[in-house]
Amino acid sequence: MLDEIKEKKRRGQLKALLDSMVEGVIVLDAQGKIILLNASIESIFGFKEEEFLEHPLIEAIRNPELDKFLKEVLESRRIRELELEMVSPVEKIFKIRAVFYGKQDEEIRGLLVIFNDMTALRKLERSKAEFVANVSHELRTPLASIKGFVETLRDGGLEDKKNSIRFLEIIESNVTRLELLINDILELSKMDSGKIALNKKGVNLKVLVEKTLEIMKPLIKKKNLAVEVKLDAKYAEMRADQGMLEQVFLNLLDNAVKFNKYGGLIKISGEIIESMYKVSVSDTGMGIPAEDLPRIFERFYRVDKGRAREPGGTGLGLSIVKHIIELHGGTVEVKSKNGEGSIFSFTLPKAG
Ligand SMILES: Nc1ncnc2c1ncn2[C@@H]1O[C@H](COP(=O)(O)OP(=O)(O)OP(=O)(O)O)[C@@H](O)[C@H]1O
Ligand SMILES: [Mg+2]
Repeated sequence: MLDEIKEKKRRGQLKALLDSMVEGVIVLDAQGKIILLNASIESIFGFKEEEFLEHPLIEAIRNPELDKFLKEVLESRRIRELELEMVSPVEKIFKIRAVFYGKQDEEIRGLLVIFNDMTALRKLERSKAEFVANVSHELRTPLASIKGFVETLRDGGLEDKKNSIRFLEIIESNVTRLELLINDILELSKMDSGKIALNKKGVNLKVLVEKTLEIMKPLIKKKNLAVEVKLDAKYAEMRADQGMLEQVFLNLLDNAVKFNKYGGLIKISGEIIESMYKVSVSDTGMGIPAEDLPRIFERFYRVDKGRAREPGGTGLGLSIVKHIIELHGGTVEVKSKNGEGSIFSFTLPKAG
């Protein structure tokens, strides 16, 4: 009786210790049945220890690959590691370390299995690799064009005065494109590294919108667009990083102009929703197909690569917008009907 109480107490202590670990821990006996598991395992796989005590692990975590691996470790009585990309019962990448404990002639033996969740890290690595591939691709196109025209000029093209000026203009526009692209990438990587400090001051969104519209005026005029601003200056006061919010409006308005139809309309409106201020920018342009909407804020994502290349877009604008708004504690959203226009909205906390 006393032994039993002691044993219970020891188990309780061990469980409390294991529960404090970030890693998932499972202890199995020599038959592969569950003796103990910690809170982290319970929360990852969504079951309780009581449900599967003394049951084979495969009943709790129905993953044949894991089962096969653990059986092999039990047989070989070694320490083994496996990186497992699980699809079911959960979609996660684990580094699993299985350690055999006990000796052949001992009664107590089995496996200690430790789960390290690598999902976030691997995802980050993948998106970084993708980012580098995208950047290189984007840099290569204008560079190839510059190189081509420089070669043409060098190999006699200079004789032809009229054409050589045209070539220089193309070179110049490609250089500008490279400049914009590199600025955007630097901006994004600054935000990514978390090094960026928000320089928050009192900002009036209405004033900011008017300032941005002034910058965009030539482009708006060229496309004969009407602009409607419905922001109440009285409510549009908040604490935020003015330079960054200016970038948000520049990017949203640039899109609203670029993807609008000739003679179309741009509306900028604001409303208060609880503690947030919500701003929407709508246009009467080509809209965005429903299947592209979920990915529209991703870096380098463009609906139609051919179509966006024309106005010189790199597909970074909206990812910068999202980044800035999230740094301010807000969210971004898009609604669109293909062929009719789009509404881009963001929220910002009123209190800053
Ligand atoms: N108002 C809009 N109407 C229709 N399509 C849009 C609109 N805004 C964005 N898009 C689509 O989303 C894509 C991504 O937009 P984003 O602003 O990130 O990039 P971009 O405008 O192509 O390039 P950048 O902003 O870097 O110059 C665009 O290429 C376009 O296909
Ligand atoms: Mg853009």
